[in-house]
Amino acid sequence: MITLGIETSCDETALALIESRTDSAGQLCVRVIDSLVHSQAELHSAYGGVHPNLAKREHGKNLIPLLHKLLIGAELKTRATIGDSEFGAALESFKAEIAQSNPELFQTFSAAHFLKNIPSIDRIAVTEGPGLEPALWVGINAARMLGKLWNITVVPVNHMEGHVIGSLLASDAARGDWQTLKPIEFPALALLISGGHTELVRVDPDFKYTILGQTKDDAVGEAFDKVARLLGLPYPGGPHISKLAHEAEEQKNATSVKLPRPMIKSGDLDFSFSGLKTAVLYAVRAHADASGLVSEEFKKGLALEFEMAVTETLDTKLRSAIESSSAKTLIVGGGVSANRRLRERFQKTADEFGLTLYLPSRHISGDNALMIALAAAIHSSKPTGPLKADGTLRLGNAR
Ligand code: KG4
Ligand code: ZN
Repeated sequence: MITLGIETSCDETALALIESRTDSAGQLCVRVIDSLVHSQAELHSAYGGVHPNLAKREHGKNLIPLLHKLLIGAELKTRATIGDSEFGAALESFKAEIAQSNPELFQTFSAAHFLKNIPSIDRIAVTEGPGLEPALWVGINAARMLGKLWNITVVPVNHMEGHVIGSLLASDAARGDWQTLKPIEFPALALLISGGHTELVRVDPDFKYTILGQTKDDAVGEAFDKVARLLGLPYPGGPHISKLAHEAEEQKNATSVKLPRPMIKSGDLDFSFSGLKTAVLYAVRAHADASGLVSEEFKKGLALEFEMAVTETLDTKLRSAIESSSAKTLIVGGGVSANRRLRERFQKTADEFGLTLYLPSRHISGDNALMIALAAAIHSSKPTGPLKADGTLRLGNAR
């Protein structure tokens, strides 16, 4: 079965194709055909964060050209060809709704005559949430139109489940070999750390999820992005903070500032990062010169202290969750899991507890559609209700 994955929940327009089958032992085998990500980060940089309507417009402009590129590269067989009148009728059926709400998508779709050659794709998996609703709708509307035009099913996928499943992929190489997903011993524990979420989740057989703890305010990625902004670094801030912290460490440049390790003694598995960000703000103010600037040396030292505070906080909660959930496998996912210090620390913790740790390859730690297509593949029969963006969709929600 060939699945087209579509992801537009934030500022990445992403598409992927995978092939999946169940082998004679009943194991799911997958093969990555290709995965493309078009990032809008540079455009949003001017706003210091993602601007929802700009994201929506950009997804609308870029999704169909990206699909063209994906299909050219994939060289799939053509299953059938659609005539002009049929193409026109399909467009007409969506015109009233989508030409209004997603004009860029409707325009590019209408001009995409390559869509009349139906590729041998069996279903579409699209992110339904959580994320920015105006952005999510673009992917959903594209999936609905393609599903109708090509007469194939559209499966909604939870973006956070995508981050869990993405970490189970051993190789994300395009045109790769058949592979099985990394084996999980249940119950597993997933730590999901991204720009919008910080969650500890128990994963039970059949991929049933229970949220054990989450952030009460900012997500950890959001804290990286906000602290980066305070230090005058571009969006997304995570990689920039990480680079400065690394330089500080190399140069043995420590700061005298001591930041809080929020909620490490709270006795629960929840997080809070907004106070940490505020502590950075006060430290910057206290060390700024008359024109409000701090030295590059100070920035580096503070970046290191911030990264250490985040690492110790996440690791403390992870350890408590391992103990209270009797987890047998650890999974870490989400954009922040690209961070080297965190990866090293989590590996150390996993080794200490004698647990297997699965991290996403750094290629697919950020948002991508490969994880969305994979998340659809693990559920053999997923109920398909009306497709609708749900910005606050949670893991473990019954549909
Ligand atoms: O999962 P993701 O791509 O998007 C969301 O679903 O939110 O995560 C994006 C977040 C951003 O906040 C970005 O700053 C952070 O991941 N990030 C990092 C690193 N690379 C990306 N944070 C810390 N260290 C990194 N190396
Ligand atoms: Zn994400």
